[in-house]
Amino acid sequence: MILVTGGAGFIGANFVLDWLSAANPLQNERVVNLAKLTYAGNLENLNPLQGDARHTFVQGDIGDFELIAQLLAQHQPRAIVNFAAESHVDRSIHGPEDFIQTNVVGTLRLLEATRAYWSALPEPQKSAFRFLHVSTDEVYGSLAPTDPAFSETHRYEPNSPYSASKAASDHLVRAWHHTYGLPVLTTNCSNNYGPLHFPEKLIPLMIVNALAGKPLPIYGDGLQIRDWLYVKDHCSAIRRVLEAGRLGETYNVGGWNEKPNIEIVHTVCELLDGLRPKADGSSYKTQITTVKDRPGHDRRYAIDARKLESELGWKPAETFETGIRKTVQWYLENPEWVAHVQSGAYREWVSKQYTAGSTAVT
Ligand code: NAD
Ligand code: DAU
Repeated sequence: MILVTGGAGFIGANFVLDWLSAANPLQNERVVNLAKLTYAGNLENLNPLQGDARHTFVQGDIGDFELIAQLLAQHQPRAIVNFAAESHVDRSIHGPEDFIQTNVVGTLRLLEATRAYWSALPEPQKSAFRFLHVSTDEVYGSLAPTDPAFSETHRYEPNSPYSASKAASDHLVRAWHHTYGLPVLTTNCSNNYGPLHFPEKLIPLMIVNALAGKPLPIYGDGLQIRDWLYVKDHCSAIRRVLEAGRLGETYNVGGWNEKPNIEIVHTVCELLDGLRPKADGSSYKTQITTVKDRPGHDRRYAIDARKLESELGWKPAETFETGIRKTVQWYLENPEWVAHVQSGAYREWVSKQYTAGSTAVT
């Protein structure tokens, strides 16, 4: 079995759902899913797995050494995939402390519990074990318009408290390999989008605000560039790296889809204009409004994912056009999910349903 951390959030939940689906030849391998259930963790994301004996959910913190040690001893995973993190740049600017606690201290404790478990494993389990750390392109800093895309050897130049905390966690993972021999892999991915994306991030925020008749806030001039990858493609890349990645290596994951934010928002509006036209016949674009820029806002990210393609044969399956259409459709088809997230109803449900601490649910 494998241990997934942070598997109630956006990418982690997509990863667990995909792992236990026909998309994965190893779909019968069990998953223990540990997440703290912060505001970004939503057990409704895992509803399709209710009653599925292959999935065990545990509420807990990656910083809880005793809990991790107990889970590892009990379930004996062959791999750990670490998604657990505070992930939102704007929140990191308002309050960096949680980012340091989870992304840095939490990763340290997870690594230490993993090292203790892995060191005592007999062969061949010890050699086969993997710790895969999920990271971000933001650790590389910001690019000028004509700079080449980030390769894996680009120097680390994190600019926000979030990216600094992720960079620190990447360095810890690297050091645990170099010093202790822990069999690690790291992936650095660009901006994901798709189903289950919490509407604090650009694309889901624009969709839900547009439908609610609210303003669509563009930071600054809207010409900041991100590379966008459909979340299911990120999940398939992680499965591939876990399967065949070289120990101690890092792999960039990207969609070859560099786009300025304003273009992304226009595309979302145009899709909504076609799929859910407004009663007054106007375009959702009329709701676009410019707001104060994010402090320290990185201007451009671009990912060179050639290493993953040439070494491991991975390529994204979706283009931006197909992925964004699926995404907008998913939000239109899941108004209840959106309503629960916005009202916080899922959190009330969690506190009613589960007590604090470690609650195992299958
Ligand atoms: P998210 O914020 O949607 O979900 C985070 C998950 O981690 C939630 O389930 C939350 O409950 C859990 N969590 C938070 N703190 C925890 C702790 N201390 N212990 C255990 N669980 C904890 O995040 P996401 O967007 O799904 O990102 C997942 C990972 O992928 C993160 O490491 C992030 O840095 C990385 N990443 C994200 C993107 C992106 O575009 N969203 C791109 C590249 C890399
Ligand atoms: O690059 C990978 C990173 O992508 C991940 O590591 C992060 O976890 C993830 O949150 C994401 O970070 P960004 O800061 O790029 O994502 P966000 O959706 O917050 O913003 C995307 C761009 O859109 C960014 O340039 C800021 C801008 N933006 C965002 C919001 C929420 C706006 O213009 N208006 C908004 O309201």
